[in-house]
Amino acid sequence: MIERERRREDHGRGNGAPHESAATPPHPVLGQYYTRAADRQSFVGALFDGAARHYNRIGKMLDFGSGPWYRRDALRRAGLRPGMRLLDVAAGTGLVARGAADILREPGGVIGVDPSRGMLQEARKALSGPLVQGRAEALPFRNDRFDMLSMGFALRHVADLEVAFREYWRVLKPGGRILLLEVVRPSSSVSRWLVRTHFQRILPLMARISTRSEPAQLLMKFYWDTIDQCVPPEAILEALRRTGFVAVDRHAFYGLINEYVAAKPPR
Ligand SMILES: C[S@@+](CC[C@H](N)C(=O)[O-])C[C@H]1O[C@@H](n2cnc3c(N)ncnc32)[C@H](O)[C@@H]1O
Repeated sequence: MIERERRREDHGRGNGAPHESAATPPHPVLGQYYTRAADRQSFVGALFDGAARHYNRIGKMLDFGSGPWYRRDALRRAGLRPGMRLLDVAAGTGLVARGAADILREPGGVIGVDPSRGMLQEARKALSGPLVQGRAEALPFRNDRFDMLSMGFALRHVADLEVAFREYWRVLKPGGRILLLEVVRPSSSVSRWLVRTHFQRILPLMARISTRSEPAQLLMKFYWDTIDQCVPPEAILEALRRTGFVAVDRHAFYGLINEYVAAKPPR
């Protein structure tokens, strides 16, 4: 069953979370897709709902099938162990949550949350644990509940980094850890041109041939534009520190994926 978003019990402050901090949208308004910041979430929601059926197939075109293995390995390296309880934010079709369930060896140990009903319906085909409809910026869970929180390739889709990070702080137990995975924006203009061409021309063509789905093609184009326009890694690290997280760090996995880790201080 997919639960609908419930009211949060509390917000940010009230369980020792630091004070309000500056707003950091992960990228500016992308006028070729939507015209006002207020329209971003409905655009993103419709895009993922429309492409959900094809998401795993498109993912394999991107990572040649290494995605599930990589996600599981990243969770293990970040400290996920049997007996913990993990919240996977932006669970999508459940690729991170499945990796977590393998490590935890207990389907109920991982809870997936995502605003897209279509993506959660796909996740349900492969996951028996709890799936909840909700957004990173307003998590429908009580304070101090999880040992660890993950978010795979979705930081670019939240309205504001600090709002989401304050929610992560709130739902984590003291000492709880986070792992955020994001695609690296290549630093040289030549590699950027190559990756852009891959995302904006080759992958949409492959997606058109193999899925015949317009949202699947659009997803690839949007994917690159959000990577290209995303705030730099330092801004993400700084937003985590401003929220009050400690042991904030970034590891670049073969120069392709940034793994951001941080911890809520023990009480
Ligand atoms: C690229 S998919 C990533 C799915 C999965 N984490 C993975 O590793 O494959 C991005 C997901 O972010 C979700 N999303 C979009 N806006 C969100 C928000 N405000 N809060 C949480 N998730 C969001 C989308 O519905 C989509 O499922």
